[in-house]
Amino acid sequence: MSIISADILVLGSGVAGLSIAIKTARALPDKTVLVATKADESESNTKYAQGGIAAVWDKLDSFEDHIRDTMVAGDYSNDPEVVKMVVEEAPGCMKQLIKWGTDFDQNLEGEMDLGKEGGHSTNRILHYKDITGYEIEKTLLEQVSSLANIKLLPYHFAIDLITNHHITGKGKDEKISCYGAYVLNQKTSKIDTYLATSTILATGGIGQVYAATTNPLIATGDGIAMAYRAKAKITDMEFVQFHPTSLYQPGESPSFLISEAVRGFGAYLRNKSGERFMLKIDDRAELAPRDIVSRAINTELIFSGDSHVFLDCTHLDMSEFRRHFPNIFEKCKSLGIDPESQWIPVVPAAHYLMGGIEVDKNGQTSIGNLFACGECSRTGLHGANRLASNSLLEALVYGNKIAHEIIRNRSKMVFDQELSIPEWDEEGTMVPKEKVLISHNRKTIQNIMTDLVAIVRSDERLEKALDHLNYLYEDTEKAYEKSKLSPQICELRNLNAIAYLVVQQSMLRKENKGAFYSLDNLA
Ligand code: FAD
Ligand code: SIN
Repeated sequence: MSIISADILVLGSGVAGLSIAIKTARALPDKTVLVATKADESESNTKYAQGGIAAVWDKLDSFEDHIRDTMVAGDYSNDPEVVKMVVEEAPGCMKQLIKWGTDFDQNLEGEMDLGKEGGHSTNRILHYKDITGYEIEKTLLEQVSSLANIKLLPYHFAIDLITNHHITGKGKDEKISCYGAYVLNQKTSKIDTYLATSTILATGGIGQVYAATTNPLIATGDGIAMAYRAKAKITDMEFVQFHPTSLYQPGESPSFLISEAVRGFGAYLRNKSGERFMLKIDDRAELAPRDIVSRAINTELIFSGDSHVFLDCTHLDMSEFRRHFPNIFEKCKSLGIDPESQWIPVVPAAHYLMGGIEVDKNGQTSIGNLFACGECSRTGLHGANRLASNSLLEALVYGNKIAHEIIRNRSKMVFDQELSIPEWDEEGTMVPKEKVLISHNRKTIQNIMTDLVAIVRSDERLEKALDHLNYLYEDTEKAYEKSKLSPQICELRNLNAIAYLVVQQSMLRKENKGAFYSLDNLA
């Protein structure tokens, strides 16, 4: 086991983590930036983003309209100052991405080809075909590799933050601060102590807490669980966004996304009888905000007993469709679905968490020297329901804020060598003979959350979920104590904490708002 020191420790290599690493490394060439990430360096929610990034770009669009759309989608639970700040800084962030090398689609006139998605009153989504996230992740990784003071550490799994709770001597009783993290090197199986003056959680979302999700396997809420154990403020966990249109493919996980931009392009939602049911629900029909569309589909499925609804693209210009959505088109064709003549079967799936680690306007958490950025953070931008394509944007704007804050405080970047920080004390040595015990508990959590804590909740469902989770907590903690740590056992423990937070904060909410809907609440 080793002690490794850096100036800046970033956990996670999606858009949030990489953009902070790039900004700080450029401005502080004499400082070292470590980016520890638990899988291959590109694996992240970011890589799978399809629709694009929202920003006021068109001359006829306005900040006021983007602000209003964000607030309406968020059911007015957003922080208006944060919304204004993010919307106004969006065009600058897009210019920055373009400068770094990101390609966005242009139309025949050489202008930005702006897409449309649910809840947007106009076309304002910058995108690269239907693989915008892949393009952004690639650009950011290229930038990272050009900076000598960034070290990227793939297959390094952060287990826990180091805070005053670990310190025995000097510093023990001071305001709670973060000094780095314990990180499992998955190649050596050793848990090393990473010390840093600034630590950034950029560990992404929680989709894997549900059985049906668009999120890849890495999205297990590790950063939020670590921050929770370190006693940081975690809020709005009841607000989980379900994307209305993931491809219906039973047994396939994660679910393949059929971008909302497809509905923005004119596709219709239909039930089995062919009815465009969104017309009777909302004036905006298929382009109402996601919470409304997902709930409407959920209701259709409950009353019809069907397993899915359909996305009808058959009336659309197919050559344009293929140009805009080559990835989606190919995926459908590979499954024998021809979007030109057949409706695409779709169903809602867990997609995004509005809540998370509470941060201020500089991305600072309630713990000193600890920042959170991207999907693991709760900034107040999204309120109770995120407006489509505002997530990559939030990560970029807050990435800038955090980098700015770290750069501003560079003179204080001195690690107190007198602090006695212990190395990781691994008590457990048992290597589970049967990994099935871990995967069984993971699946059980996912099923509990999907059956009882999804689009529609109730007091009774939440109580039942909590009972089950309490049992799983005991079981998982026992296994964690005696096991030699592995990413699997750590993820299970984190998923358990996330599920608990979603259930517990759902129980506290007595009013339906945005993505949160309980049968026992009034409004
Ligand atoms: P991520 O990109 O998920 O990165 C998290 C990183 O943390 C990963 O590198 C992961 O490996 C690492 N990590 C996690 N735990 C640990 C640990 N314990 N130790 C070390 N590393 C760890 N948003 C939009 O705005 N527009 C879109 O078009 C869009 N489309 C989407 C499509 C799909 C299919 C999905 C799933 C999401 C989409 N979103 C979209 C949402 C958006 O992609 C994410 O919210 C955003 O990319 C999150 O970025 P992030 O950097 O916070 O997290
Ligand atoms: C999509 O392309 O539908 C996803 C966009 C988002 O999650 O913002």
